Amino acid sequence: MSSLSDRFNAEFGAAHKQYVPLPENEAESTFDQLMHSHAVRSEFFSEPLPHPAHPRIFAVSNQKGGVGKTTTAVNIAAALAKGGLSVLVIDCDPQGNASTALGVKPPAGDPSVYHTLTQDLPLREVMYQCPDIETLFVVPATIDLSMAEVELVMSDRREYRLRDSLSAFFGLPEADRIHFDYVFIDSPPSLGMLTLNALVAAREVLIPIQAEYYALEGLTQLMATIHKVRESFNPELRISTIVLTMFDKRTNLANDVAADVAQYFSDELLATRIPRNVRISEAPSFGQTIISYDLRSAGAAAYLAAAKEIALRS
Ligand SMILES: Nc1ncnc2c1ncn2[C@@H]1O[C@H](COP(=O)(O)OP(=O)(O)OP(=O)(O)O)[C@@H](O)[C@H]1O
Ligand SMILES: [Mg+2]
Repeated sequence: MSSLSDRFNAEFGAAHKQYVPLPENEAESTFDQLMHSHAVRSEFFSEPLPHPAHPRIFAVSNQKGGVGKTTTAVNIAAALAKGGLSVLVIDCDPQGNASTALGVKPPAGDPSVYHTLTQDLPLREVMYQCPDIETLFVVPATIDLSMAEVELVMSDRREYRLRDSLSAFFGLPEADRIHFDYVFIDSPPSLGMLTLNALVAAREVLIPIQAEYYALEGLTQLMATIHKVRESFNPELRISTIVLTMFDKRTNLANDVAADVAQYFSDELLATRIPRNVRISEAPSFGQTIISYDLRSAGAAAYLAAAKEIALRS
């Protein structure tokens, strides 16, 4: 029986570019995509993910809006949790999109990350278990958090509020707290006090980059901020992971951006690229991550693969 590529080439001939099966999660035909997603899922679930020696704490950051920070934070977190690890997401964005996507959306006024940041309410008291995945927890944000930027400016140790709460949490006896392998802090599209708190609390920065015009614009500013944070507050902070999001491999632009990013961040860039996938954008309206909404989708496969890469790099 002829292969899919033979059939394609016989049918469409030289008028079209020759069909070459794709190695990565970038398959073009539905058949290729299904086969690829299946292979990624089998590989992901074939063995448990390794537990890191110490909790790995990531700030998911990029001051550019709408590049996939929240989507990446919640879906990588869900994938790691599905892989048997225990994961916490801290929503540091007043938009509260990470909380929504994780199915935990308390009303304004209820205990949330706002109370931890501004009133020292212990993290343990604002932690909710996600409905879909047992080992996934979230410290949610409500609209109250929009007050925090202003309130924090006047408070003590204003840059360290989140770091101090995390240290207090991890300092509790094991019996009094949940063990976490990973913590992801979702941050807003700005470089204000909330993002600063995320960068001071984290050890690693995960930067989602959308492969589009001006993708790298603003990255210099983020790098300068990270440099300052390292000098003044958190010498251990490093950019460990970069992931390309909403990637459309058919466009030259996406491939050009990928090449640029690979040139500057060859060690940090994940080989897995997250494709643009409609199931990924649908999931949050059901209060779900792509992992529980549609595990068989190409989007879920990409996030499983990205999560595994991250876990194996620890
Ligand atoms: N891989 C994808 N495929 C399709 N849609 C996506 C994908 N990733 C993200 N989106 C959609 O793009 C939009 C922006 O994504 P997201 O909210 O994650 O970005 P963000 O960087 O967190 O935005 P903000 O800066 O406002 O916090 C959302 O509507 C999301 O559903
Ligand atoms: Mg966001």
